[in-house]
Amino acid sequence: MRHLINITDFSTGEIESILDLADQMLSHPEKYRESQRGRILATLFFEPSTRTRLSFESAMLSMGGSVLGFATADSSSTSKGESLTDTIHTVSCYCDIIAMRHPKEGAPLAGSLISEVPVINAGDGGHNHPTQTLTDLMTIRREKGRLDRLTVGMCGDLKFGRTVHSLIGAMSRYEGVDFVLISPPELRVPDYVTSRLRAEGIPYTEAESMESVMDRLDVLYMTRVQRERFFNEADYIRLKDTYILDTDKLRFARDDLSILHPLPRVNEISVKVDADPRAAYFKQVKNGRYVRMALITKLLEQA
Ligand code: NCD
Repeated sequence: MRHLINITDFSTGEIESILDLADQMLSHPEKYRESQRGRILATLFFEPSTRTRLSFESAMLSMGGSVLGFATADSSSTSKGESLTDTIHTVSCYCDIIAMRHPKEGAPLAGSLISEVPVINAGDGGHNHPTQTLTDLMTIRREKGRLDRLTVGMCGDLKFGRTVHSLIGAMSRYEGVDFVLISPPELRVPDYVTSRLRAEGIPYTEAESMESVMDRLDVLYMTRVQRERFFNEADYIRLKDTYILDTDKLRFARDDLSILHPLPRVNEISVKVDADPRAAYFKQVKNGRYVRMALITKLLEQA
């Protein structure tokens, strides 16, 4: 039985086969309409979500499967003091696969150790978010036609942004990828991520200004400042609008840039950018549904 806790749990070959299946599912959804009939997905969300939870549910329903679960911790027995392991033990008796989001780093890993069914990490604190990374990889591959030989800019809250940590982990494994990490000094990528890049000889540069690096980028991955992970509100307020991508700043960008954002957006991309052909973040939302269909299919095949 396989789980997906960290994106590097899957080889690049396994990731490519999920992306290939997701592309097919997007082109011919009718072929998969009954493919998970009788199977049940549980979504256990101890933290807020719109896209991740609903795309998982939509994915399972689009394949004829069923879904159950909860969207807030206070509507589960956690609020009565039940341990996470007891909750997982219980839920794994009711379903065939679990997608779980939790504010504590490592909680999905702990759940996977006692679960009787595959567990998917749908975001653990400021740590990882592997299914967003599958969505990001599918989008980059569809937009750019490849996952290697790319200069990938990541901008915003690189400290607490779990999607950034997972995407760096995944893209580091492709030849010729160069990272440009754009953040204020307080929100730099954690040391455990950059030390791995240095150890593996993967090129990266850190920058504070978006404008100064814009013309180098093939992909620009914007992120929101993660308010819920700050220790004090004053720091959040000081940092929240450090970067706002607008049509003016895009004058410095290449014509074939792809702009991604895991969403939700707060202020970091002006709505005027939505009409720019380089904006790929709503395509990314759509891809998330198909890549989760493919992931559920692959994990259930091996369960
Ligand atoms: C991201 C997350 O939850 O980490 N959202 C998502 O799943 N698409 C990004 C964020 O909340 O900023």
